[in-house]
Amino acid sequence: MTTGFTLPSYAKLNLSLRVLGRRDDGFHELCTVFQTVSLHDDLIFVRQAVSLSERSVTLMCSDPKVPTDGRNLIIKAADELRKRSQINQGAQIHLEKHIPSPGGLGGGSSNAAVALIGLAKLWNIPVGADELIEIAETLGSDVPFFLHGGTALGTGRGERIEPMDDFPTKFLAIVTPDIDIPTRPVFEALNSPNLTIPAPESILNVCRFDVNSVDFLQSAMKNDIESVVFAVFPEVERVKQTLLELGAVHAGMSGSGASVFAIFDKEETRQTALKALEIEPSWRKFAVAAISRSEYRENVFGKL
Ligand code: C5P
Repeated sequence: MTTGFTLPSYAKLNLSLRVLGRRDDGFHELCTVFQTVSLHDDLIFVRQAVSLSERSVTLMCSDPKVPTDGRNLIIKAADELRKRSQINQGAQIHLEKHIPSPGGLGGGSSNAAVALIGLAKLWNIPVGADELIEIAETLGSDVPFFLHGGTALGTGRGERIEPMDDFPTKFLAIVTPDIDIPTRPVFEALNSPNLTIPAPESILNVCRFDVNSVDFLQSAMKNDIESVVFAVFPEVERVKQTLLELGAVHAGMSGSGASVFAIFDKEETRQTALKALEIEPSWRKFAVAAISRSEYRENVFGKL
């Protein structure tokens, strides 16, 4: 019987993020390229005897700033899984936090997806992939991607995932200034045109074509949310400019920020850039590599 195990919970980047318009449900129709990267939290799962306490899944976190109650997506994921499968078992989850949160790196969403995967294993629930995706969609727009990993196109709210060819870059950096950017107001500030019907297939085909034909190292990838964030938080733009001045081939904000990623063509340039950034002590810096879909599957699902 499984008593405990540890799973990595990887961060994501939005290599490109196009906002097509505002939908009737208040969400925005997106066309985004997701990429998992080596920066990760760790989730340690420990089986617990049936508890009579109100909440039988208890969460502890290395970062005191992260809520460990019902506001945390891990607890929401656990509650949803228990409800659907009528499971009466408990668990202790310890979250070792390394991904800046919030930061546009999908940390909370990744934690939720990995909680679903880990708890289904811990409790031995025969939950199918489609049901996991269904639960993931109720938890947040980015959560379903973390049931796939690697490089993928996200459409709809970002929850409809189509795997793409790997983007095997090793020389990435992520820089996160110490700014909390709330997602909802940023989307609202875009003042996107209303979409009364879901994005037609013709628009999505153009998106698919665009993202499949770009050379991620050469082309100007775009994040439509950047300009709104830069206007209110000029420090985020300064992070991007600094990374480009330090020799990045490309730099762009991830999600709704505040993290900015940079793609370098070689390790030497990346190292020199990270060294130069030491004069900015309030910026968190990470040297990361892309995690392919097969690595993701092996590291997240394979060890179970
Ligand atoms: O789905 P999630 O909880 O991550 O979204 C957080 C907020 O971001 C939403 O409440 C919504 O205001 C905004 N959002 C959006 N369009 C999306 C994804 C998120 O407007 N596609």
